[in-house]
Amino acid sequence: MSDTKPARASWSGKWAFILAAAASAVGLGNLWRFPYLAAKYGGGTFLLVYVVLVFTFGVSLLLLEIALGRYTGQSAIGAFKAFGKKYAFIGIFASAIPFIITCYYCVIGGWVAKYAASYIAGASSQIAGAPADFFTGFITSPVESFIWMYLFMAAVMLVVGLGVKKGIEKSNLVMMPLLILLAVGIAVFTLTMPGALDGAAYYLVPDFSKLAPETFIAALGQMFFSMSLAMGIMITYGSYVDKQTSLTASAGRIAGFDIGVSLLAGLTIVPGAFVALGSAEAVAENSGPSLMFVILPTVFDQMGGMGAIIGLLFFVLVLFAALTSAISLAETMVSIIMDGARWSRKKAIIAVTVFLFAVGTVVNLGYNGFSFLEPLGAGSSILDLFDFVSNSVMMPIAALMTCIFVGWVVKPRDLELEIKRSSKFVAEKAWVAIIKYIAPVLIVIILVAYVAAQFGFFSM
Ligand code: PHE
Repeated sequence: MSDTKPARASWSGKWAFILAAAASAVGLGNLWRFPYLAAKYGGGTFLLVYVVLVFTFGVSLLLLEIALGRYTGQSAIGAFKAFGKKYAFIGIFASAIPFIITCYYCVIGGWVAKYAASYIAGASSQIAGAPADFFTGFITSPVESFIWMYLFMAAVMLVVGLGVKKGIEKSNLVMMPLLILLAVGIAVFTLTMPGALDGAAYYLVPDFSKLAPETFIAALGQMFFSMSLAMGIMITYGSYVDKQTSLTASAGRIAGFDIGVSLLAGLTIVPGAFVALGSAEAVAENSGPSLMFVILPTVFDQMGGMGAIIGLLFFVLVLFAALTSAISLAETMVSIIMDGARWSRKKAIIAVTVFLFAVGTVVNLGYNGFSFLEPLGAGSSILDLFDFVSNSVMMPIAALMTCIFVGWVVKPRDLELEIKRSSKFVAEKAWVAIIKYIAPVLIVIILVAYVAAQFGFFSM
């Protein structure tokens, strides 16, 4: 593939790449979204489906995206266009996804920022006194909830504007291991609380009678979201990888990092919810976007004097993970606009800021001024709609088009060679089978089932 531009930026080494990809992947998807989905969709059953999906389909798609990026030396739109102008639409479609996700990601980022600030201000027992009221009161507040969202957005756009990529990479090196240590520590503590082991059993032991179509549907959407797949980010990151770095080993490590953090977060929050709520049914019924914000403060409170500090550390680290992911999302939006509209970086940053501000405001209004809008049925919000459209509809479609394109239109041959330039490719045959047959069939089934469920053909 000819690259007419001057030499592209590149990672300083293979670990810089793995760390940057992991920092984009590890975020609210792991800490906030995964635990509540696991709690909702049958605990161990969901876990099993998720792990199998990640290590077959997820890793394959990750490898495909990185290889496509390195092979073409382009980010999403350019990578598809490199095979012919008529294929650019796949990249364009995938590129629209971060524009939806970032808007609601910043709303939740605002929630996390508020919690981190409240713990810093010593409000831990006040929150734990009435966690549900505190949470609801905050997200429905007509002024305060907006302020925290705007602050989160401002922090994200400031970093993107300063381009302090190096700074983020370095701090990741400290924060990521800290996050894992803390997650392990809190998990261990939670598991010693009375009733928690039942929760751990619910979380870890699959119950096949709970296996329903929606388990697969939810797990698939979560996989794309959490691994930052199907929206071009990993293609762009792959385009910065040098020809010596093993793509297979990198994909395995990124996936391992991502799933590791999810597993730990689930192991804390699901048993914690069990302690607080008492039964699997209650946990499943009460789990939704509020789980982390309503359940964990109670768990922290029961830790005695240490609770306030652990809670503070926890929310600060979640905030950090959310920021690094949001920064990678915003950075992607900026580069899409720069490439697509041929705008300067400054102009693109201003456009993204205005867009985020406007659309984020609408999403947040879904919890107060516009709360009468329930786009996905009673109790749902605009945020749920954005989440559904991006994770459950657009990402599967983007992944489907990518697999068909690579598997059937251009044929996987060139990408196989690209992967083999830097390492052995033991699972080559399985990879091709997944890309050509298994993934497309699976996505179509899941997509049809999901949309059918939303239109009420079967209940979720
Ligand atoms: N993977 C991130 C998370 O789990 C979210 C994200 C998606 C970030 C896509 C970048 C791109 O929170």
